[in-house]
Amino acid sequence: MISQARHIGFLASLAMQSAASSLQYAIPSKPPQNATPLEPTPIGMLFEFYMWPSYMTNITPPMHCVERLSDIYGHKTPIRIGGTTQDRATYDPDFDGYISYINDDPLVAPMELTYGPKFWDLIAKYDTESMLGFNRGDNNRTNMLSAVLEARRRAGSQLWAVEIGNEPDVYNMWNKSIVVPPWNASQEGESAADWAQSFIDVWEEPLPIIAAGSYAVTFPDNPNWPNVPYLINTAFNHSGKAGVKTYSGHLYAAPPNETDLAGEMNHAKTVSDLAVFTESIALSHSEGRPFILGETSFHPYDVHMDETFGAALAALDKSMRAVTMGIQPLFNWWSDDQINAPFYGGYMAVLALADGTRIVELDEGNSSYAVYVIYSGQIASKILLVNTDYYASGVRAEARFTLTGLRASRVSALRLTAQSSEVVTTRNQTQPSAHPTLGGQWFSNADCSSLGSRKIETARVARGTATFSLKASEALLIYV
Ligand SMILES: *[C@@H]1O[C@H](CO)[C@@H](O)[C@H](O)[C@H]1NC(C)=O
Ligand SMILES: *[C@@H]1O[C@H](CO)[C@@H](O)[C@H](O)[C@H]1NC(C)=O
Ligand SMILES: *[C@@H]1O[C@H](CO)[C@@H](O)[C@H](O)[C@H]1NC(C)=O
Ligand SMILES: *[C@@H]1O[C@H](CO)[C@@H](O)[C@H](O)[C@H]1NC(C)=O
Ligand SMILES: *[C@@H]1O[C@H](CO)[C@@H](O)[C@H](O)[C@H]1NC(C)=O
Ligand SMILES: *[C@@H]1O[C@H](CO)[C@@H](O)[C@H](O)[C@H]1NC(C)=O
Ligand SMILES: *[C@@H]1O[C@H](CO)[C@@H](O)[C@H](O)[C@H]1NC(C)=O
Repeated sequence: MISQARHIGFLASLAMQSAASSLQYAIPSKPPQNATPLEPTPIGMLFEFYMWPSYMTNITPPMHCVERLSDIYGHKTPIRIGGTTQDRATYDPDFDGYISYINDDPLVAPMELTYGPKFWDLIAKYDTESMLGFNRGDNNRTNMLSAVLEARRRAGSQLWAVEIGNEPDVYNMWNKSIVVPPWNASQEGESAADWAQSFIDVWEEPLPIIAAGSYAVTFPDNPNWPNVPYLINTAFNHSGKAGVKTYSGHLYAAPPNETDLAGEMNHAKTVSDLAVFTESIALSHSEGRPFILGETSFHPYDVHMDETFGAALAALDKSMRAVTMGIQPLFNWWSDDQINAPFYGGYMAVLALADGTRIVELDEGNSSYAVYVIYSGQIASKILLVNTDYYASGVRAEARFTLTGLRASRVSALRLTAQSSEVVTTRNQTQPSAHPTLGGQWFSNADCSSLGSRKIETARVARGTATFSLKASEALLIYV
């Protein structure tokens, strides 16, 4: 519950005594100088290449969930179709289906696949800004370029960006035929620039359209690993750069500790993970290009904690922190045949960011607590508080956020919570305790609709001040 701000003097003096859990922030009434501009749809959805036709034709509820996001934005959610399987895909102009592969285990991505022109008809049908991946790793330029031309013919007006290879820095690990060991920054960069130029020569227009980079790993301590600064400073000449619409990176927790949810979900960890992009963002912007996260999730491989409520808070916090750093859009995986907990975090991030024009983060990025203020024009319209402290059982600690500088006399809020950081969703949805809830509601696995009765909290503001309590592992979106 939100505390009524009746005894502000008392709460403030309490704040002095009980260190970490009482926090005070002054909300700037106008967007400060360092506030980051927001795009209309800062968060998008990613579909693994070989799964795209399935999502569009016979899997529920992911597309329903994308529609929920589009409803909030008032615009269609941007999408990316790509991933590891884009570099295993052979285009066959005579193939009449969407996609074809042989797979003993349907949950394991196929090592080889063939697709036909209808694959792109689904992009035209979905009709939103799309980022589409092509195959560089298999080193068949003829095949790639013929695919590019047909994709332009069938879905050209939907294509926002194209990728010429997914995670080319780890082609070595997949034994891709294009690799010449050791496949370092200069080798990969030369290949990227060369293929980009071939693409530009056949594509012609519209330019720019290439999403360059798309690297899996960002090792600040290994300068020879392929990296976006190398592409910008060295590999791409004027012609290549003119074809690049955006630079892109992928982000997974680093270095991951798969037994330590408390450490992995912590705001300070999220902040330090994202900090690896600082130079890439600055260089991209100096070229007049955005830097995006083409792909992000929690860990580089599926570990149990990725489906927990703690991962939902990490997805929320990572989304907010990333856009605050000027990364947009970013593409997350949030759902499967059941809505996993991280979707709750992503959905809340979209709720917070939609209709915003600027964002600023007020915390120092070195604790468990995050405070984001979203502006619509000159007015602070929403405040998101996140408490990323871990909670399993026993006494649940609380953090009190005292906000000053509020203008309304009463504010309303939606709370994201669950019984613990370890909660995971279920397919059958029969146990209410297994759902995270956002404003008292949870998402139906049938069609992503909101179930349960909506709970809006309200708080009185006295002399511009109100205090909000968040238990360990909770977030609160305040409409001010
Ligand atoms: C490359 O693609 C072309 C055109 O799609 C095809 O004819 C050729 O056999 C492929 N080459 C290899 C080595 O697979
Ligand atoms: C790549 O090749 C190495 C050496 O032949 C082999 O050990 C490894 O399993 C291969 N990896 C994949 C993903 O095929
Ligand atoms: C730019 O780089 C590409 C790729 O290496 C190359 O093919 C092209 O000739 C270069 N253009 C100029 C004008 O040097
Ligand atoms: C990458 O490896 C090649 C071949 O060993 C070498 O010539 C080149 O200098 C290396 N580049 C970097 C950036 O280390
Ligand atoms: C991972 O986290 C656990 C729990 O905090 C800790 O005991 C372990 O030492 C950590 N492992 C590594 C490799 O840091
Ligand atoms: C975070 O950084 C600020 C400013 O550098 C410092 O005052 C504060 O003590 C730090 N907090 C923690 C929890 O380390
Ligand atoms: C629902 O799923 C959960 C977790 O998978 C399981 O423990 C529970 O028994 C199931 N309930 C019913 C009624 O099938």
